[in-house]
Amino acid sequence: MKIQIINGPNLNLLGVREKSIYGSSDFETYLADLRKSYPAIQLDYFQNNIEGELINKLHEVGFSYDGIVLNAGAYTHTSIAIADAIAGITTPVVEVHISNVHKREEFRHKSTLASNCKGVIAGFGLDSYRLGIESLLNQ
Ligand code: DQA
Repeated sequence: MKIQIINGPNLNLLGVREKSIYGSSDFETYLADLRKSYPAIQLDYFQNNIEGELINKLHEVGFSYDGIVLNAGAYTHTSIAIADAIAGITTPVVEVHISNVHKREEFRHKSTLASNCKGVIAGFGLDSYRLGIESLLNQ
């Protein structure tokens, strides 16, 4: 089984950025633990700050992988292009967020991506990614 985790803009700064919201662990440390928890799964990771690069990755893996866990960061709230990319591929996409976006500013309450995704998981810290993987395993 192959699952692609995709992180969008500013998520390269996890562990450094706004720790009270996003926690103090960097993603690579968390990913190493995640891989140990799922030894039978090929868990690939990609982070990029550029919208088009996220779209290129969705196209690249979106016809052959078993699932995609996507945290598109702020593009979640604005990107029709990423929404179209999700609609155009066959691999199911789970939208995840570290923070509970619904407890935050109003502009974070709307997702342009969610209606094209299998589901949305938000507010569980980095554990949101593990929950995203679980939801793909249970399909
Ligand atoms: C985020 C929430 C977004 O609103 C924000 O722009 C992010 C991170 C989260 O994981 O909680 O960059 O996607």
